[in-house]
Amino acid sequence: LFGALERQPADALLGLIGLFRQDPRATKIDLGVGVYRDDAGETPVMQAIKAAEHRLAETQPTKAYLGAEGDARFVDLLAPIVFGAALAGDPGLTGVQTPGGTGALRLAAELVARGAGDPKVWIGTPTWPNHAPIFREAGVTVRPHPFFDAASGTVDFAAMASALAEAAPGDVVLLHGCCHNPTGAELDAAQWSALTALVVERGLIPLIDLAYQGLGRGLEDDASATRSMLAAAPEAIVAYSCDKNFGLYRDRVGALWVKADGGSLAAVRDNILVLARSLWSMPPDHGAATVREILEDATLTSSWRRELEEMRSRIAGLRAALADADARLAPLAHQGGMFAMLPLPRDAIFALRASHGIYMAESGRINIAGLRGETVASFVAAIAPYLQR
Ligand code: LMR
Repeated sequence: LFGALERQPADALLGLIGLFRQDPRATKIDLGVGVYRDDAGETPVMQAIKAAEHRLAETQPTKAYLGAEGDARFVDLLAPIVFGAALAGDPGLTGVQTPGGTGALRLAAELVARGAGDPKVWIGTPTWPNHAPIFREAGVTVRPHPFFDAASGTVDFAAMASALAEAAPGDVVLLHGCCHNPTGAELDAAQWSALTALVVERGLIPLIDLAYQGLGRGLEDDASATRSMLAAAPEAIVAYSCDKNFGLYRDRVGALWVKADGGSLAAVRDNILVLARSLWSMPPDHGAATVREILEDATLTSSWRRELEEMRSRIAGLRAALADADARLAPLAHQGGMFAMLPLPRDAIFALRASHGIYMAESGRINIAGLRGETVASFVAAIAPYLQR
């Protein structure tokens, strides 16, 4: 049976975790996997999470199964943060808990594969390296479209819009709701509204991957594109992650929402539940239960919001410091979120790893939060000879 299997390359991004750990140099800098770090280089458990976990440990009455939808109260409490109070109550919206944002994307991909016709998903280039595999493994055809203009560090919106004008009605368009991974480049408000009009006019289905809400321009601003897209499009999908904005990474906390018309919504939900049951049966409870505890309590919610805002502003400060340090990094000041893609040739990535212990993705993506105030200058000095812009 297994003789036909071919060896597979290890995941290059996750591989950086082990490579960094093995490097003995005290001056090494980890700009690899997208995990928030504070100015001491740590990824502490958020205070609100710790408090909620204590409370859960003391009061949780049972760990009996909840069902394929996971924790419905978690989903209900999260919805107003994602969609705003008005849209969260939209009866055309149905949501379930998922194992992280990846679980939400995979569930969405399986649902799309069950849809009418021969659905395709359009994905901008570059994107998170796991996006295309998630859809391909579910049997959905992936169509790339231009997104990033490396020379200016901005979105090449004209190229993106003209590619999407070729998409067929019913095709899915995968969009990063905020904090584009890996480039940090974001559509401005006028571009989002032009894209929304295009999506509605051509009958495309927006699938918004919202994995960094609160880490770009703030909780409200980071959700605004998602909200206006959902308000306009009759059918839409949102894959959400709490892994970054609640710092729950390994606990895998996410949610999937689908907007559909009244006639198909019940069938959409039935299919989501059947698919989830066969994929993971039920999502892991602990992280979502912790988020629920926080969102049920005003004091814990303000503590979480405060800490998230501190994280966001630290990242924004590092962006500004990088942009100030070298004119070729100036676009970073206008981008958003944890990531930026530096104009570095591939061999420079490996040279920087070997000579300076600077670990970044092979694409040139850096996790800005991996820098500390005191390492910005030495980092910029190290990359300066290689920068191409
Ligand atoms: C990243 O892009 O670094 C994160 O989303 C972690 C992952 O799963 O790849």
